[in-house]
Amino acid sequence: MKISVIGTGYLGATHAAGMAELGFDVVGVDVDPTKIERLSRGELPFHEPGLPEIIRKHVDSGRLRFTTDYAEVGAWADVHFVGVGTPQMPGQHAADMKYVDAAVLSLAEHITRDALVVGKSTVPVGTARRLQGLLREKARDGVDISLAWNPEFLREGFAVKDTLEPDRLVFGVNSPDAEPTLRAVYAKILATGTPLIVTDFETAELVKVAANAFLATKISFINAFSEVTEAVGGDIRTLADAIGHDTRIGRRFLNAGIGFGGGCLPKDIRALQARVSELGLDRSMRFLSEVDEINLRRRERAVYLASSMLGGEVADLRICVLGVAFKPESDDVRDSPALDVAARLYEMGAAVNVYDPEANANAARRFPRLNYVGSLTEAAADADLVLLLTEWDEFKALTPEDLAPLVAHRRLIDARNVVDGDRFRDAGWDFAALGQRY
Ligand code: UGA
Repeated sequence: MKISVIGTGYLGATHAAGMAELGFDVVGVDVDPTKIERLSRGELPFHEPGLPEIIRKHVDSGRLRFTTDYAEVGAWADVHFVGVGTPQMPGQHAADMKYVDAAVLSLAEHITRDALVVGKSTVPVGTARRLQGLLREKARDGVDISLAWNPEFLREGFAVKDTLEPDRLVFGVNSPDAEPTLRAVYAKILATGTPLIVTDFETAELVKVAANAFLATKISFINAFSEVTEAVGGDIRTLADAIGHDTRIGRRFLNAGIGFGGGCLPKDIRALQARVSELGLDRSMRFLSEVDEINLRRRERAVYLASSMLGGEVADLRICVLGVAFKPESDDVRDSPALDVAARLYEMGAAVNVYDPEANANAARRFPRLNYVGSLTEAAADADLVLLLTEWDEFKALTPEDLAPLVAHRRLIDARNVVDGDRFRDAGWDFAALGQRY
């Protein structure tokens, strides 16, 4: 079976590499020739542990290649995965479907042999049914194009593992041949006992957004309790551990801090609200606007703590920001709470030094006015305050002894609840953490 993957961004590049790793001949397709050139040399335009190695291995073996040519893959592949982006529309909550629509229309125009198109992008419910109509209408005469929906649940930083060893597979199908084809594509993964859910289009589309909405809600749930423990005392980490022992709740995604960001959770909960609102069901997902608000309030809290620790005025003071990626093991700064907090402190007049092991370059493109430096030592030099905003391992391991010789004043805010606060307090530091009373 020959496979094409349309879109070579985060999702598409990972999926193409995963399909090659499963043994298929794969072509990654993108409209951006620069991306295609780089990928063809085995270079990845973003940071993802383990992925460049797999891409290089299969580019070298000839099993994986990249092209901008739809006509070539339309005549070649049996299965076309669509993994293009669905970003939030500027100034609106709804997802922008122009890339998905363009990809599907290009496929319809160029597919010259019977094929299965498989949607992987995160889309508003109802999209698959609409695209199926589009494919039927636009397919060439005598060519049968079926559609299936197969949402993707990979996390940045764990993309390879999540692709090759997913928690579950979901197939949304609406034609007799789609399920057997998808079973054949994923045969090796299914053979390991991975749960498979075969369902209709709408359920498959909703599974994806429901999962992300649940995860976002879980994070905002613990962060809402942070607001309470900050006011009355108590330890948010212990609270999370204690409720997390209940297997019905579970400890994962109960890490309190500056909240969720990235290219998925924030935009997905907004797009879901926009979609249900179109359906006249605003009330069903209204709680997600609260989830969003709680999340955004965490950034304000971090800024407020920084300013109070510095006596109410940050102007001309030197702040060391550790981490601007939206989470560790990623160079992604899309909707990054950390970058937002750093930028707000800059806007308030602080001199902000930033060090992130991977995300400096992306952050500098988005917000160039911060002082990006190449090491923790440079970032902390003469700092009046250190702000730990993304929990990279190198920051989690920090001790008072590491930082004290560098900084001008011993002040630390742990916005991710990852260092031992007592150790800093005992060493004479002014210490605050999100979720703890200060
Ligand atoms: C998320 C989902 O976890 C994936 O399952 C999904 O496939 C993906 O979106 C997607 O839709 O493509 P990702 O955006 O890579 O994956 O990041 P997460 O690991 O979910 O983290 C999201 C944010 O939540 C990060 O900013 C992280 O710092 C924050 N977070 C996470 C917390 O604040 N607390 C936690 O306990 C966990």
